Amino acid sequence: MNMLDSEMVVASLRGEGYGVTDSPEDADTILFNTCSIREQAENKTYSALGRMRQLKQDHPQKVIGVMGCMAQKDQGLIFKRAPFVDIVVGPGQLQQIPDLIRTAQSQGGQHTAVSLGRTDGKVEQVKRSHETFDPLRDPEMRPTPFQAFLRIQIGCDKFCTYCVVPMTRGPEQGRPPQQIFEEAKILADQGAKEITLLGQTVNSYRFRDGETHTSFAELLHLLHEVDGIERIKFVTNYPKDMTVEVLQAVRDLPKVSPYLHVPLQSGSDSVLKRMKRGYTVGDYREMMQRIHEHLPGAAISSDFIVGFCGETEEEFQETIKLTKECRFKNSFIFKYSERTGTKSQKLMADDVPYPTKQRRNNELLAVQNQISLEDNQQFVGAPIEVLVEGRSKKSVKDNESGEIVQLTGRTHCDRIVVFQGNQRLVGQIIPIGIYEATAFTLLGTVVTSESRPQVVQLSL
Ligand code: 5AD
Ligand code: SF4
Repeated sequence: MNMLDSEMVVASLRGEGYGVTDSPEDADTILFNTCSIREQAENKTYSALGRMRQLKQDHPQKVIGVMGCMAQKDQGLIFKRAPFVDIVVGPGQLQQIPDLIRTAQSQGGQHTAVSLGRTDGKVEQVKRSHETFDPLRDPEMRPTPFQAFLRIQIGCDKFCTYCVVPMTRGPEQGRPPQQIFEEAKILADQGAKEITLLGQTVNSYRFRDGETHTSFAELLHLLHEVDGIERIKFVTNYPKDMTVEVLQAVRDLPKVSPYLHVPLQSGSDSVLKRMKRGYTVGDYREMMQRIHEHLPGAAISSDFIVGFCGETEEEFQETIKLTKECRFKNSFIFKYSERTGTKSQKLMADDVPYPTKQRRNNELLAVQNQISLEDNQQFVGAPIEVLVEGRSKKSVKDNESGEIVQLTGRTHCDRIVVFQGNQRLVGQIIPIGIYEATAFTLLGTVVTSESRPQVVQLSL
């Protein structure tokens, strides 16, 4: 979501005649796009801001801005901790950035544009204060020109007790389907082959316009019609809303990736209750069964928080047990980080010692890595369709000039594949034969036209 916000802000500033530079010394305006999901993300921003202090002192005409979730959460506190900052802009006010920069340049002073807090007004007022910002797109700011994010929903109404997102990004609001469809067509015209639909609980998407109601599954059907788009992915899913209707749409629409990121967070009912996740282990198991029934071979991934308030060793071991049972393709594991303003911060003690959080993190990671390795090994010997994304990091270091370089890409199910190939394959979807697997990567070779007839294509 933050990468997309950066793309949008850069597009709007380019419209004003700005260009992008890597060097703060050359920049007239320096904007920090921030995350506040964990304390570590905020600490990184504050230390990066600290490095701007001298620069601003030497060049007071430079405008320094903080945008995104930390701006919404900390607001005036940012001016206290970094008094040289000129503008603070929440994720719901990004469209105001060009004006705010102009005002800071012409009038000086410090300027804040943020949304209303969740209890600062009527629901409709609060919603209106979180405006989604999806204007002209800027292909140059994307990870690659043929892959694009597309926002379908802003905000979140789930209020998991540990999470700051419902405060920073406001109430859940779906974007009108026609607007999303038009944006997908623009992206396809710009060369996007793969779009990733974004929402905090993307599968909870719904849009009502008078009597007309659009569900997430219906939106998938609509977007499937866009010529030029070959792959559709979506993140992040909410377990309770992984309905049969959604799974049938994924099954019936070949462009939609059978890849589902559905965070479990914990394998213990008592912890899930304290987290107010809205489901039990039993509900999650049923969802897994539904997925396997409708989408055999789908890749499922998860997020976990270890060391949540009051998490006992027994509760943590339940997470280990369920992880072994669910066999996720991969998992992102986080140590609980107390966030000001959340229910867990107000009502529960952050009482799991840091070394215990670290140990549980390592233990769960080791279990997951073993599963990921075994999961990847099933592809050894098989060819898989890969969207070639570009040179691998290693290749950039090793081979600057040669034609054949180490390339990296992703399968329909979001598995990373590394192989030797010609640079011109970048942006194409091609079959790669897999000869080795690690927990994180599949290693392969390009399947040539001579070898192709002998190869059986897998749906993955
Ligand atoms: N502490 C640690 N991890 C968190 N997440 C969200 N809030 C917190 C927090 N306070 C994790 C969840 C979520 C992912 C994006 O970040 O696992 O799914
Ligand atoms: Fe945060 Fe829960 Fe909403 Fe995800 S569903 S953004 S974890 S409140």
